[in-house]
Amino acid sequence: MGRPFIHMNCASSFDGKIASPDGSRLRISGPWDVERVHRLRADIGAILVGAGTIITDDPKLTIKDDLIENAPSLTKVVLDGAGRIPAASRFLRTAGRSIVITSSLCDRKWYMGMQETAVREDLDLVIIEMETGSTRLDIPSVLTALFDRGIERILVEGGSEVIWEFVRSGCFDRFTIYFAPILVGGKGPSIMGGSGFTDPPQRLIVKSLTMTPDGGVLSELILNDQ
Ligand SMILES: NC(=O)c1ccc[n+]([C@@H]2O[C@H](COP(=O)([O-])OP(=O)(O)OC[C@H]3O[C@@H](n4cnc5c(N)ncnc54)[C@H](OP(=O)(O)O)[C@@H]3O)[C@@H](O)[C@H]2O)c1
Repeated sequence: MGRPFIHMNCASSFDGKIASPDGSRLRISGPWDVERVHRLRADIGAILVGAGTIITDDPKLTIKDDLIENAPSLTKVVLDGAGRIPAASRFLRTAGRSIVITSSLCDRKWYMGMQETAVREDLDLVIIEMETGSTRLDIPSVLTALFDRGIERILVEGGSEVIWEFVRSGCFDRFTIYFAPILVGGKGPSIMGGSGFTDPPQRLIVKSLTMTPDGGVLSELILNDQ
C-alpha cells in the first residue's frame, strides 16, 4: 500500500501567521513567492487544501499561464469531512479535475446539491465518500485512496487545520515555509492549528534556510523521526 509523496507549503509572516487577525485572506507572498508556488504546482500536478480555505478565500487553485508556459492540468483536492464547501466555489470551474473528499457522515443535502451541480454544469468533479465513524477522515486512508487513483505527488497548501492533520499523522515528506518580512500579530490562523502537541512537540530537521530576493526566508524542513 503506497501513498503519494507529500510536499507541504505555506506562506507565513515572521510571527507565524498565515492570514489576517479576523481569519480573512492576507496577501503574504510577493511576486517572487507566487511564481515559486505556481512552479511547484506545475511540477507536482496535484494540490490539496481544506474546506476552511475554500470557504474563506474561495481560491481558483490554478497555475497562472502568464507565469508558466504550457502549464499541465492541475488536480485540485479538497478535504471536507462535514460537507460544507459551497457548490458555487470557484475552483470547481477552473481547469483540471476537482476531487472533494468527504465522510459517510457528511451533510446529505450538501452531497446531493454538489452532485446535481456537477451534472447540470458538466463539471469535472469527483466526490469520494469515505466510510468513517465521524466527519474526521483518516489521512493515511485519504492518501491511499488518492494513490489508488494514480496521484503520486501532492502539494498540500493548508490551511492551518490541514497542516496539523498531516503533521499529526506523520504523512509528509517535505515542508517548505516562506516567511515574508512582515509581522501580523493577533489571534488569526497560524502555520499549524489543531489541538497541538503536548510534550514532546514534533521534532524537525531544517534542510535549508535561504534568503529570498524580496527579503524573506525560505525554509525547507523534514520530519525528525528519532
Ligand atoms: N498563507 C498560506 O499559505 C495559506 C494557505 C492556505 C490557507 N490559508 C489561510 O488559512 C485559513 C484557513 O485555515 P483553516 O485552518 O481555517 O481551514 P483549512 O485547514 O483550510 O480547512 C479545515 C477544514 O478542512 C476539513 N478537514 C481538514 N482535515 C480534515 C480531516 N482529516 N478530515 C475531514 N475533514 C478535514 C474540515 O472541513 P469540515 O469542517 O467541512 O469537515 C476542516 O474544518 C484561511 O484564513 C486562509 O486564508 C493560508
